[in-house]
Amino acid sequence: MQNILLLGSCEGAGAEDIEQMIRIENVSKWYGDFQVLKNCSTSVKKGEVVVICGPSGSGKSTLIKTVNGLEDYQEGTIYVNNINIGDPHTNLPKLRAHVGMVFQHFELFPHLTIRDNLTLAQMKVLKRSRDQANKRGMELLDRVGLIKQADKFPPQLSGGQQQRVAIARALAMDPICMLFDEPTSALGDDQRSARCHDQSGQGRHDHDGRHS
Ligand SMILES: Nc1ncnc2c1ncn2[C@@H]1O[C@H](COP(=O)(O)OP(=O)(O)OP(=O)(O)O)[C@@H](O)[C@H]1O
Ligand SMILES: [Mg+2]
Repeated sequence: MQNILLLGSCEGAGAEDIEQMIRIENVSKWYGDFQVLKNCSTSVKKGEVVVICGPSGSGKSTLIKTVNGLEDYQEGTIYVNNINIGDPHTNLPKLRAHVGMVFQHFELFPHLTIRDNLTLAQMKVLKRSRDQANKRGMELLDRVGLIKQADKFPPQLSGGQQQRVAIARALAMDPICMLFDEPTSALGDDQRSARCHDQSGQGRHDHDGRHS
């Protein structure tokens, strides 16, 4: 059984004063004739951690990608921070700047150093200076125990180290909520516990297993 995590943290700027950070309501999706999501509903309150479990191929990655509009869906509605993801007028790039995502396969830029992976989006999207972005990136790299790896490239790191960089990169954007697809799949037991603590911001562990 594997899992994804939906976190309703609200430390980042731009979070609305609402109770539900993420609302998924009766969402269905088809790939051609194959229905991958069947009437999925769940919600994540501010500060809440929701874990969705399911076997391989059950649609966890597909569901998590619908939450920030990386996958479309044919039925239902999804709101993030009170913004309707399926509304054609929604500015998805703007929303995604505030919704942190750690992909199942990390998706680090292989040709950039770890430092540059951590600073690029901060500078391009949040318009932080290189110094500001580097300071924030290195704080988080230190927090995941990889400060000595800052000038290496992703292929020079182990899978678990790459996953920790991906987590630090997402947190560097000071997101209003976080989407983790298999967030600790490549980590050892010691790191898994520590990263779960980091990811939940204030150290909350309100794990609530729900089925996709
Ligand atoms: N782009 C696509 N086109 C067609 N079918 C797809 C596509 N992406 C995923 N699928 C199918 O949708 C189903 C769900 O895939 P998904 O990646 O969401 O599963 P998962 O629960 O994340 O699995 P895992 O635990 O192995 O990561 C699978 O049967 C997969 O083959
Ligand atoms: Mg998956």
